[in-house]
Amino acid sequence: MGKYMVNLKINNTPVQVEEGTTILEAAKRLNFRIPTLCNHPDLSVAGNCRVCVVEVKGARLLSASCATPVSEGMEVNTNSEKVRIARKHVIELLLSEHNADCTKCFKNGHCELQELASEYRYGDHIFTDLVKTKDRILDISSPSITRDSSKCIRCQRCVRTCTELQSVSALAVAHKGDHQIITTFMNKPMNDVVCTNCGQCINRCPTGALYERNYIEDVWHAIYDPSKFVVVETAPATRVALGEDLGIETGQRVTGKMVSALRKMGFNKVLDTDFTADLTILEEGTELLTRLKKALVDKDETVKLPLMTSCSPGWVKYQEHMFPELIDNLSSCKSPQQMFGALAKTYYADKINIKAENMIVVSIMPCTAKKFECNRSEMRDSGFKDVDYVLTTRELAMMIKQAGIEFDKLEDESYDSILGESTGAAVIFGTTGGVMEAALRTAYEIITGNEVPFTNLNIKPVRGMEGVKEASIKIKNTKPEWSFLEGVDLNVAVAHGLSNAKLLMESVKSGKSAYHFIEVMGCPGGCIGGGGQPIPTTAEIRKRRADAIYAEDMGKTIRKSHENPEVSEVYKEYLTNPLSHKSHELLHTHYKVRKRY
Ligand code: SF4
Ligand code: SF4
Ligand code: SF4
Ligand code: FES
Repeated sequence: MGKYMVNLKINNTPVQVEEGTTILEAAKRLNFRIPTLCNHPDLSVAGNCRVCVVEVKGARLLSASCATPVSEGMEVNTNSEKVRIARKHVIELLLSEHNADCTKCFKNGHCELQELASEYRYGDHIFTDLVKTKDRILDISSPSITRDSSKCIRCQRCVRTCTELQSVSALAVAHKGDHQIITTFMNKPMNDVVCTNCGQCINRCPTGALYERNYIEDVWHAIYDPSKFVVVETAPATRVALGEDLGIETGQRVTGKMVSALRKMGFNKVLDTDFTADLTILEEGTELLTRLKKALVDKDETVKLPLMTSCSPGWVKYQEHMFPELIDNLSSCKSPQQMFGALAKTYYADKINIKAENMIVVSIMPCTAKKFECNRSEMRDSGFKDVDYVLTTRELAMMIKQAGIEFDKLEDESYDSILGESTGAAVIFGTTGGVMEAALRTAYEIITGNEVPFTNLNIKPVRGMEGVKEASIKIKNTKPEWSFLEGVDLNVAVAHGLSNAKLLMESVKSGKSAYHFIEVMGCPGGCIGGGGQPIPTTAEIRKRRADAIYAEDMGKTIRKSHENPEVSEVYKEYLTNPLSHKSHELLHTHYKVRKRY
């Protein structure tokens, strides 16, 4: 049944909207922008900041437009004198307890509070400055997330993100009234709580209270050091989002310009994490087939199925804390970032005749959890720290600006070879369902010798933004060595965002699921919506980035990981074959059970 339509007037302009629409949304349809702070389109309504107040004819008090649904005949004024004074007072109150040292703030120029202050604040303080009486907590314990309590306006977007979207609840509200604070369990440092380092709270924090631990100066230092050979790798999702922070429209692919900028910044080699995404498919696909054979042919009851992907370090840490009983279901494959680092400081260093101790590997990622991952003690199989520094897409944009590079004017350039070649299958790692689709393109062909039975190789059931997606592929006409899979329905599932992952894990734990293979990405939308991507990231923006990823895949000549010629070369010259002794040594890892509290 269709919804009722409601007629109202906003600033004397008539508008008709569906019942249940808020005044804020209705005003947006008429292109009236009402400022907001605690509201975020991905989250439930909190209605606690009061910045969005409007005047409704006949109402005694001003209404929070984000929390008030429209009603028939309503007359709303979004910019009356009463509204403007109230809004100004709310902003002044927030600023009276805010450490507004904007010029030193990481969010300078990207801050919603700063934007509002510059729109509405014109005069001296009208409230007592409380900043100096507040205790400041600057938490830099985490390698991924920095928390500065002096910049917090208690809008609780971070708390709702961590609880509603991620089912982690590492952040919570404590105390009431003036004493209210945002804190962690027992006020412990971020590095000592259940935080997965996903960075989703950063993406939604309207101020500089949460931001990535940045390594910009360390990377410049390495570039300027003549004794260092600095190699950079770029993740799939960075190429469809970087432009947003550099004046280019959302959804534009900037792969060639990004390569050109990195070269101009002084990196010695510009290489691609997509290369090791292809390598991951060969290792992980072989791991899946090996586990299936053990389970179905050898009747080995100890083998863990479904196999679960391990590319997303936020998801891996979540599993370590929340579902330790399923830890052996995680693929032993390192993420493409870490496979890259391990290969760069061994095979590649030998190839180009550089001593591994003089090589610095920098990785450009859409993800803040990758900063944590590269610091894990397991990630030193090259004999050195495999990846030295991880920069988010946002940090790279800052560095490009610092270098004075006019990004939009750059000519496209290509990645260096080797470790620079990739396929369409690798690019789609950047969006939810992509790893699964890439794995199926390869696994099906290994088993049957035929292409996966979907038009243009596009496995539509695992695409899109539904929280949990499922697909089942019947395996037909197997090669003799895979005959035990003849007629088997290969059941797969895909989840993105940790709340969806939780639902999937509970179904696996209950024994109700019949999946063989599960892909989980810690962030909503997968890496395109990662915690290190340009802000804002909304559903519409995630969709446009995903469309750009699929367009990049369609534009590639080679679209299956096992057809990447450079990957074949690495196996021929160095690794021998997937799951070889050498592969295990460099490309695989193990996980640890972590406490929740
Ligand atoms: S959080 Fe925003 S308003 Fe506060 S200091 Fe940083 S940039 Fe300025
Ligand atoms: S990084 Fe992720 S898990 Fe950690 S506090 Fe933020 S939203 Fe929660
Ligand atoms: S840390 Fe950021 S998102 Fe969380 S309450 Fe403070 S200002 Fe809001
Ligand atoms: S944005 Fe409406 S109350 Fe905060």
